[in-house]
Amino acid sequence: MSQQPIGMLDSGVGGLSVLREVHQLLPVEHVIYVADQGHLPYGPRPREELRGFVEGIARYLLERGCKLLVIPCNAANAAALHYLRGLFPTWPIVGMEPAIKPAAEHTRTGVIGVITTKATFQGELFASVIDRFAQNVQVETQVCPDFVTVVEQGLPNPDETRQIVATYLAPLQAANIDELVLGCTHFPFLTPYLQDFLGASVEIIDPAPAVARQVKRVLAERGLLNQSNERGGTEYLTSADPAHMQFLVKYLIGETAVVNRGQWLDGRLMTP
Ligand code: DGL
Repeated sequence: MSQQPIGMLDSGVGGLSVLREVHQLLPVEHVIYVADQGHLPYGPRPREELRGFVEGIARYLLERGCKLLVIPCNAANAAALHYLRGLFPTWPIVGMEPAIKPAAEHTRTGVIGVITTKATFQGELFASVIDRFAQNVQVETQVCPDFVTVVEQGLPNPDETRQIVATYLAPLQAANIDELVLGCTHFPFLTPYLQDFLGASVEIIDPAPAVARQVKRVLAERGLLNQSNERGGTEYLTSADPAHMQFLVKYLIGETAVVNRGQWLDGRLMTP
C-alpha cells in the first residue's frame, strides 16, 4: 500500500502550489493530480454542485488506488471536506483551511487581510476558522475571482495583473493590514505582485508548506510513507485541454508533465 500514489484535486492549477511543497518534502512519493479545468472556476459555484464534482474526482482517485487524498483547493474543502470524510471514513483525507491562526498570532496592527473566493468565504469552514482563531483581531476579507482567471491564463500580461492586484488589495491596505492570508491555492503564484503592492512590511501567509507537513505526518502515522529510494513521478489529469495544462505545469512549477484528458460522464470522471 505504501507504494500507492497520493491523490490530489483542484479546480485547476492552484493545487500545484501545494504539490510543489509535497514534492520537496516527500520526493519519492507518486502523485495523481486532477485539475477539473472543465468546471473552472469553482469559487462562484453553489455547494451542492461542487460536492458532486469533488465526490466524482475522489471516487476516481480511490479507484486508482490512492493511499491518501489531499484537497489543495479551499473552495472544494469548504463545499465537501466533511461530506467526503463521512463518505470514506477509513480513507485518510488531508484538507486545508485559510491560515487565519498564524496571521492572528503574528499581527501587530491587529488587522489581518484574507483574499479568497466566494465558495470559501461563504462556507461554514471559514466561519468556524474565524470563530476559533480571530476573536481578538479585525479580519478584512476580499473575494478575488479574477486572480484565479489570471493564474489559469499563465499570467500573460504583467501590467494588467498589477492593475487587478491593486484594485483588490487597495481596501485591505487602507484598512492597515500587516498580514495577508492566501485563502485560495491559486494565489501563491501571484505572491511577487502581492508583495510588490503591499510592501515588505506585510507578511503573506501561504498554507502550502503546512499542508505538505500534514501529508507527511498522516502518512507516517499510518505506516504509509513510501520507502523507495527512487524519485516519485506525477500523473496529471485535466477535464479540459491537456496542452494548456502542460504549459501551465512547466510555467508555474518548472516540471515537464505528461497530461492526460479526463472525461465527465454521468457524474463520474473517467480516463480513456
Ligand atoms: N484553487 C481553488 C481554491 O483554493 C479554487 C479556485 C476556483 O476555481 O475558483 O479555492
